[in-house]
Formats: sequence, C-alpha cells, structure tokens
Amino acid sequence: MIERVTELRAHLDAVRGRGATVGFVPTMGAFHDGHRSLMRAARAAHDTVVVSLFVNPLQFGPTEDLDRYPKDLEGDLAAAAAEGVDVVFAPPVEEMYPGFPTPPLTTVSVAGLTGGLCGSSRPGHFDGVATVVAKLFSIVGPCTAYFGKKDAQQLAVVRRMAADLCLPVEIVGCPMVREADGLAMSSRNRNLSPAEREAATVIYRGLHSGADVVIGGERDAGKLRRVVANVLTTEPLVRLEYAEVVAADSLEPLEELTGDVLVAVAAKVGDVRLIDNMTIRVDARGAVVDLGAIVAPTVEGLCAAR
Ligand code: PAF
Repeated sequence: MIERVTELRAHLDAVRGRGATVGFVPTMGAFHDGHRSLMRAARAAHDTVVVSLFVNPLQFGPTEDLDRYPKDLEGDLAAAAAEGVDVVFAPPVEEMYPGFPTPPLTTVSVAGLTGGLCGSSRPGHFDGVATVVAKLFSIVGPCTAYFGKKDAQQLAVVRRMAADLCLPVEIVGCPMVREADGLAMSSRNRNLSPAEREAATVIYRGLHSGADVVIGGERDAGKLRRVVANVLTTEPLVRLEYAEVVAADSLEPLEELTGDVLVAVAAKVGDVRLIDNMTIRVDARGAVVDLGAIVAPTVEGLCAAR
C-alpha cells in the first residue's frame, strides 16, 4: 500500500519508463463485486494495476453519510490482492487536501452535466468528484481508468472533464453488476437493514417494468418515466427521489426515446441513498435495453461497449 503522492508518482514513472501500461481504478473502498469487476478489467488489459482507496470528503454534503460511509481497509487490501492489483494507493486526507478541513482553493467544476439528476439534490457533489478525480489522474499520470456504469452521471462528468482538460487518461465505462435479486451492487448496501435490503429490490423491479414497456414498443419518455416511478412508489420503505429519462451523453431530458437513452433513478431506502439506471439504444431496428449483469460478468464480457 502506498500513502504518499510522491511515492506513487515515482513508482508509476518507473513502471511507464520500462514501457509498461497502467490501468487505474479509483474507488472509495468497501469493495464489492462491482469494484472487483473493474479491477479484473484493468488486470486483463494492463501490465500494472493501481487502485485508489480514498473516501473523498469533498463529494459529501454537510448532511450526507460521510461518517457512515462503510470502511474495511483489511478486507479491501485482501480483495485487491486476490484480484492481482499491484498497488493500492490509500492516502490520508491531508495528503490529498493539505490544510484540510480548510477547502482547497482550486476545484474542478463541469458545467451543464451536473445540474440535473443527482446534482439537483446533491449540490457540490460532482464538483467534489471532478476535483478528486482530476487530482488522482494528475497523480497517477497516463493510464486507462475504469469506472462503473452504475454511476452514469459521474461517468459522463469524468469523461467530459478528462476531455476538456486534455488529461492523458482513457476512460472506460464497465457494466454494472447486480446481486442475484437485481439490486445494483453498492458499498452503501452494507448500511441497509434486512427489511430495507428486501425493499430495495423494488428499484430493479421498477427499471425492469420500464424495460418491458420499451421492448413492447413504448417510445414516449414521459410514459416510461411514470411506469418506473409507479413501481418504486409501491414500496413504503422506499422514497423515490427521481426517475428521469435523459439523453445518455448530454443528460438532457427527453420527450421521445431515440438514440442512446439513460433511465436513471435515485431513492432513499431508510437513510441510505441508492442510485440505479438502465440504458436503452433505440434505432430503426428497435430497442436494446442494458440493465447490467445479474451474475458477475466474465472478463471477456467486460467493457465490450466503451
Ligand atoms: O465512484 C466512486 O467511488 C467515487 O465517486 C470516486 C470516483 C472514487 C471519486 O471519489
């Protein structure tokens, strides 16, 4: 495990100096199979794999769950070793933000993609994400970085940020991984009570009902949105925050399903905020729905669609 920026930089410069490639998986720890699938994708494609493990305070609002965010350093190090990760970078907060809790003077903000969806209820969240990811990219240097498609808005923001700032990082979006009953894997699932864990499956059922009507020919975005929302509101332990149908690249709301569409939901289950989504590609031949994989995908299947 490396904790210092200078040490990681020196190590990766030496690695690249030998002609080796670097795959990078940024995380906040509390690994589940979704994280492990990112590590496997990086391992399959690169000589050296780096995983960062840093719970970034900048992306949590004052009333959010920073203090309750699950932590399991020992379990994470064991999981990373089992996936063949070469380096875990786990910096203390002062290493990333000297002077913390004084906020850094320089932050990164991606306009346009961050106002809607999770941005409406989590002001400042995506600035925190963009800032820490920009810093991590600067520390890790030229690499290919792997992100899960569950955080679809985050992925769009990071892609745009890397392109706009000409960062030497290729971004790869990897399929989301679901539990056997369809719940999207998330570190926050650990904070659900057994009853909440059971109730949370309604999120997948809502998206699945949406997928069914699209496959049945529905192309009205408003109707699709209502189908998904109606299922989620049947569960008393779940409070729907939003169900939106947007263009997958611009995240602009759609009236009609066309091109690459993102159906995104966020809901509070007890105190735990969960997000989920599905993508739909609609063209003249019909609609192809991607709800993510219920069973852990194979390495070959990972990242087929970048
Ligand atoms: O998705 C996450 O775990 C975090 O938002 C990230 C990308 C590691 C930035 O803190």
